Amino acid sequence: TTPVPEPTQARKPNTNADPGHPQGTALTTSQGAVLRDTDHSLKAGPRGPVLLQDHHLREKITHFDHERIPERVVHARGAGAHGTFTSYGTGSRICSAAFLAEGVKTPLFVRFSTVAGSRGSADAVRDTRGFATKFYTEEGVFDLVGNNMPVFFIQDAIKFPDVVHSVKPHPDLEIPQAQSAHDTFWDFVSLHTQAQAHAMWVMSDRGIPRSFRMMEGFGVHTFRMIAADGQSSLVKFHWKPKLGVHSLVWEEAMLANGADPDFHRRDLSDAIKAGAFPEWELGLQVFEDNEGQSFDGIDLLDPTKFVPEELVPIQMVGKMVLDRNPSNYFAETEQVAFHPGHLVPGIDVTNDPLLQGRLFSYIDTQITRLGGPNFSQLPINLPHAPVNDMLRDGMHQTYIHEGIAPYHPNSLDGGCPYQAGEGDNSKMPFIDFPELVAESVKGRSNPVSFDDHFSQARMFYRSLQAHERRHVQQAYSFELGKCASEVIRARQLQALANIDVQLCAAVARELGLPVPGADTEVVDREPCPSVSQALGSWPVD
Ligand code: HEM
Repeated sequence: TTPVPEPTQARKPNTNADPGHPQGTALTTSQGAVLRDTDHSLKAGPRGPVLLQDHHLREKITHFDHERIPERVVHARGAGAHGTFTSYGTGSRICSAAFLAEGVKTPLFVRFSTVAGSRGSADAVRDTRGFATKFYTEEGVFDLVGNNMPVFFIQDAIKFPDVVHSVKPHPDLEIPQAQSAHDTFWDFVSLHTQAQAHAMWVMSDRGIPRSFRMMEGFGVHTFRMIAADGQSSLVKFHWKPKLGVHSLVWEEAMLANGADPDFHRRDLSDAIKAGAFPEWELGLQVFEDNEGQSFDGIDLLDPTKFVPEELVPIQMVGKMVLDRNPSNYFAETEQVAFHPGHLVPGIDVTNDPLLQGRLFSYIDTQITRLGGPNFSQLPINLPHAPVNDMLRDGMHQTYIHEGIAPYHPNSLDGGCPYQAGEGDNSKMPFIDFPELVAESVKGRSNPVSFDDHFSQARMFYRSLQAHERRHVQQAYSFELGKCASEVIRARQLQALANIDVQLCAAVARELGLPVPGADTEVVDREPCPSVSQALGSWPVD
C-alpha cells in the first residue's frame, strides 16, 4: 500500500478515522451501529407501506444516489497503475531536483486516458492519449501531465474551450462519440490551421495505439530546468516504452472497440497481473536557454511544434516500472488530480501561453470535480513529503489542524520558519527563477513564428514510411468522408494541399473532390545541423 507520510505537528489526520475500510467483521451503518438486516426495508406490516423512519434504508439509498462525481471535462476515460521511477543520475547535471539524483527511487502513479470520449467510451478510438505521471518525491509532488503526441492543437490556452467543444459530440444529439468524425472537428481545424500538425498525428497510426504499454509520452511544452549552480536549461520531456511503439490498424481498432471496449485498460492490468511490468525510460531534449527560446528556427514556446530527435537526441535520465494495479478504481484512478504546476525545486515552467493557461485550469476544474479545495488530502494525491501549508477549513476538510496561528509570520505557533536554503534559486520552486521579462507592449498578439502552421505537419508526414503514409491517407479519407459539409471538406483539403500536395490528391481522389493547389509557399526545412552542434547545451562529462 502507498505509505502515508507522518503528519506534521501543524496538520494531523482525524485520529478516529482509519483510511482502511472495511473495519471489523460485522455489517454496520456509516455511524458504526451493527445491523441485523440490510435486505428488507422497515414496513408497516409485511405488505404495508415503507416507513420514513427507516434511517438505514435512507442512508443506504442516499449514499448510493451520490456515488457519482462529475467525470473529467476532458480525459474522462482512463486507466491507472502504480510504479517506481529509478533515476540514473544523468539529469542532475542540469537539474537540482532530488528525485533525479543517481539511484533515487520515487514512487509514482500513472494515468493513461483518451481525451474526447466520456468515461464509458471505448478504448481503441482514434484520439490523442493522455500520459500523466505523479511522482511522489521527497521534495513534494511533481506531475508530468503529458500526451502520447509531442504537439498540441492550439498555441494559446484561451482556445482550449473552442477546440474541446469542437471534438465533443454535437450538442443537439450527442453524436458522434468519435473525435475525428465530426463536422465540428474538421470545421475547427480547417479554420484554425494551427491545429493541423496535431490533427496529422491523430490521423497517423499514433492515434490508435496497440497498447498503453507501447506508447511514447511527451511533456509537449518546453520546461526549464535549473542546476545546483543556478544554471538554467530548456528541456522537453520524453517517455520511451521498452516494448517500442506499436499501433493497431484501423480494422483491428474497430473490431477491438466492438468486441472489448476495455481493450487498453484490460491489456494494462493483465500485463501487470502477469508480472510483465511495463517500462519506460524518461529522457530529455536539452536546449540552451537562449534569448529567443528557439532551436534551429523552431520556437520552443510554441506547443504546436516539436524538435526532431535527429536534431537533438534524447538523453535518458531514469526508468519507470509499473508494477501494481489500483485496488480501487474510484479512490485512485478517478480521484487522482494532476496539475502541470505541481513542480519541485529545479523544474520550472516557461512562458508557453498554452502551459500558462493550464496552470490555472486544472485546479479550477478539480475544485468542482472533487468537491472543494481539499482534494490534495485524498490518499492518491497526498504528497510523500511533509506538508505545512497554512491552508485551512473548506469542504471535505479531513484534518484536525492544531495551533491557533495559521499565518506567517507568527510568534505563537513556533513561528513556522522557512526551510534552510532561502534565497538559493536552484532550490526554489518555479515562482522564483529570476527570468528576465522582456520590456514589451501589453497586447494579444503572437510572435511571428507562431504563424507557421504547416511545416511541422509536412515534416511529420514526410518522415513516415510508405505504408504509414497510406494509413494517414485512409484515415483522412474515412474521417472526412463522414463530414457532411462539402464546404468544410473542401477547406480541409486546402489545408492538406498546403501540407503535402500528394497527400491532398490521394484524399481528394477518395472523396471525389477536386484537388486544390497550395495557397501558401511550401518551404522545406533547412538541412539538419550536425548532432554535435545540436547538443551544444548538454554538459558533457
Ligand atoms: C486533463 C494533458 C492542454 C485542461 C488532462 C489530462 C492530461 C492532459 C494527460 C488527464 C489527466 C488525468 O489523467 O487525470 C494535456 C496536454 C496539454 C493539455 C499534454 C497540452 C500540451 C490543456 C489546456 C487546458 C487543459 C490548454 C485548459 C486551458 C485540462 C482539464 C483537464 C485536463 C480541465 C481535466 C483535469 C481533471 O479533471 O482533473 N490534460 N492537456 N489541458 N486538461 Fe489538459
